[in-house]
Amino acid sequence: MSGELRVDGARLCKNLAEMGRIGRRSGFEGVTRLALSEEDGEARDLLVSWMREEGLSVSVDPIGNIFGVRKGSNPGFKPVIMGSHIDTVIDAGIFDGAYGVLGALEVVKRLNEEGIETIHPVGVGCFTNEEGVRFPPDMMGSLVKTGGYPLEKAYERRDDDGVTVKEALVGIGYLGKDNVDPEAYFELHVEQGPILHKRGFKIGVVEGVQGIAWWRVRLHGEANHAGTTPLDMRRDAMAGAAELYCGLLESVKRRGNALCTMGKLRLEPGAINVVPSLADFTIDYRSYDDATFRDGKADVTRMVEEIAMRRGLSIEKEMTADAQPVHFRPEMVGLVEGEARRLGYSTLRLPSGAGHDAQFMHTTCPTAMIFVPSINGVSHSPGERSEPEDLERGTNVLLGCALARAGVKE
Ligand code: HGY
Ligand code: MN
Ligand code: MN
Repeated sequence: MSGELRVDGARLCKNLAEMGRIGRRSGFEGVTRLALSEEDGEARDLLVSWMREEGLSVSVDPIGNIFGVRKGSNPGFKPVIMGSHIDTVIDAGIFDGAYGVLGALEVVKRLNEEGIETIHPVGVGCFTNEEGVRFPPDMMGSLVKTGGYPLEKAYERRDDDGVTVKEALVGIGYLGKDNVDPEAYFELHVEQGPILHKRGFKIGVVEGVQGIAWWRVRLHGEANHAGTTPLDMRRDAMAGAAELYCGLLESVKRRGNALCTMGKLRLEPGAINVVPSLADFTIDYRSYDDATFRDGKADVTRMVEEIAMRRGLSIEKEMTADAQPVHFRPEMVGLVEGEARRLGYSTLRLPSGAGHDAQFMHTTCPTAMIFVPSINGVSHSPGERSEPEDLERGTNVLLGCALARAGVKE
């Protein structure tokens, strides 16, 4: 039966477009649904209404992860969960995260339409704060769920306005008490990089996810007159930050298998004719290689200290994320590859450059990811696009994997 069963790609794209209308801001081309914001709450409410329409039993856990589970013939069995996230970065596209959640919903719709009874329950998962933009660390919902971060510590994380995660969860009505313990987890996602599209492959068989380390650094120098202060008398916080960023970019270029980004920077006092006294910025460091990831993190610490010392700057530094590189279980990678090939789709094995909830779900249950091409690899940007046919193909693979794992009652 699962041989000829296919999803309805047009309906999936319609739902993606509808969810993609939530979080539009004037002056921005893309979508902004920061975690636990009003917009995130609105998107969650829409998702829950769609889950209820499909007769799913909806639960919310203490960090706000949402699960909609469809009964199986053996209710005592753990559910096979398919999911991702619906929060976004600033001015984002409509596919990052939402594709995995709404692709899972489309699979459930097709099972309902065809009256297919699975042995294990199957369900849709929507994790809280995958992006980490408003409240670091990223993948917070799956990290807390899998025991990688204490719930109370997550509750106390504050955004730039001092609002805590707990206040924001209560504010949108998604602080729950439930718990869902998956038998397996599948995450369907756009690649967000250029490989599949450039090389013409239809399905990415994801072998693992690279490590992600985040810091928030505040370099303190001394405000002074831009016109009268000689260079050798300055304690210029921005000069320290700039030297650090250029040094880190050079070091990852030399390593060849790491990336580094300084995505957020704020200066004080922020005047054109004043030497900056404070540079408040973030560092995002990534590598798929365990040794490079470990050594690269040491590089960051050493370089911050060396530059600050030489420039007479004092340091405040907090590590806000530290997700290790993961390699999915071979049998789960093989399942994705087998399903994609059974459907006649070309496949390529690759690691994920982006972080995903699957990175943490992998630590507690068999986990796999399915990628589809991102046009020109653009993501975390309004220019994020994927072909409808590719979105449909990926969801067909998700359907096949879920049925293979959950079993179908004959
Ligand atoms: O940053 C990431 O890779 C993910 O989108 N949170
Ligand atoms: Mn994502
Ligand atoms: Mn993302």
